[in-house]
Amino acid sequence: MDELMERAVETTAREDFTDGAELRGSSFDYLTQPGADLAAKAQAFHAWAENRVAHGVFPYAKRLGGRPGATAELTLLDGQRHAGLNFSSQEYLSLARHPRICAAAQAAMERYGVHSAGSTALAGNVEEATLLEAELGELLRMPEVLLFPTGWAAGFGAIKGLVREADHIIIDQLAHNCLHEGARAATPNVHLHRHLDVDHVERLLKRVRQRDPHNGILVVTEGCFSMDADSPDIRRLQSLAHEHGALLMVDVAHDLGCMGPGGGGQLELQGVLGQVDLVMGSFSKTFASNGGFVATHDRAIKEYLRFYAAPNTFSNALSPVQVAIIRACLAIVRSGEGVERRDRLMRAILGLRGALTEQGITVLGHPSPIVPVMLGHDALARVASREMSQAGLLANLVEYPAVSLNSARLRMQVMADHTPALAQTAARIVADSLQRARDLTGHAN
Ligand SMILES: Cc1ncc(COP(=O)(O)O)c(C=O)c1O
Repeated sequence: MDELMERAVETTAREDFTDGAELRGSSFDYLTQPGADLAAKAQAFHAWAENRVAHGVFPYAKRLGGRPGATAELTLLDGQRHAGLNFSSQEYLSLARHPRICAAAQAAMERYGVHSAGSTALAGNVEEATLLEAELGELLRMPEVLLFPTGWAAGFGAIKGLVREADHIIIDQLAHNCLHEGARAATPNVHLHRHLDVDHVERLLKRVRQRDPHNGILVVTEGCFSMDADSPDIRRLQSLAHEHGALLMVDVAHDLGCMGPGGGGQLELQGVLGQVDLVMGSFSKTFASNGGFVATHDRAIKEYLRFYAAPNTFSNALSPVQVAIIRACLAIVRSGEGVERRDRLMRAILGLRGALTEQGITVLGHPSPIVPVMLGHDALARVASREMSQAGLLANLVEYPAVSLNSARLRMQVMADHTPALAQTAARIVADSLQRARDLTGHAN
């Protein structure tokens, strides 16, 4: 690690800040430009982004130089290599190079080759995919599981597959992009509710039901919100949904497998495992693979989605290697080793949150593998993020429009292999970098 940290500070000179154009504006400015020339619209965005790249304040589209471990090496778009403590990977149980998982991938490759060669609706599912559906169903206590090529596809596909134009969706304003995109694609009747505000959901349910007793309502939320690390009252949401003839869907991408005594995530922590209408999730955070799923108690819904959820019907199934990896991860999640990994993960989470708080830094949400660190003004955050990666801390910057204007944050993602000592070092780097950014930009927060 020392060697990595030494290399981290060997950065080449960058262009000095000029008039600060690289610190102004956002991708939102380029979303709805008028004009007949589509390529010109892309060019305007590209010029803005390239200016940020030239000033070292565009920390996106980084490339990994090896395994996404507790330390890692990343190359930025301008070619600069940064090495250091890695809090930017979604590898919550540190399974990416687990010997049993690699062996399972190898065995699947030998039996099937590497290609599924079809959608799950046709002939793309390998034999083990059925076992994976059953095993995941056991963890979730839901008998019907349908696999998707990615978590995004599962979220989008479940909503668009189930909801028709005349139906309604009540959705948390901060829900993930795949859920909002699915909602917008499914119906014009999308009702946003204030983040986590179940009273607001109740009012919306009453109003929608009063005005429209004839069409369906889907309530959509997340187990652990990916920018804020907080959770709704799922039990109350489910009972409100049923009171008003609606269904509830919960996205458990960030908590299933890595939280809860048995790995059942927020559903388990809130005592509602197996009691929610629809659960969807991703294999890309805890299960060391790409892929997603939708789970239900209702066989008819599963079969309906197989035909009407386009990313399931019209997209290639998970590869045999992915299926084998996810099954091997799931076996670990459900074993004593899973308990031990979740314990280590939680110790690292609490260590990081505690160390950041000691440094006077605001940490949002509740203990979860996502530790959102408030940075503040977007300009300050861009410079702070650059200073951090130069000082050997790799963590993702989240700025407007992903979060509200000038409430930029670092999204630190913790893994089982992070030690409390690493967390202490990371917190110190965050504090020092934030101070340097304050001095450089003149923004206090
Ligand atoms: C809450 C949530 N849902 C769904 C997804 C999509 O998952 P995947 O990466 O498997 O497409 C993500 C990933 O960013 C997420 O954070």
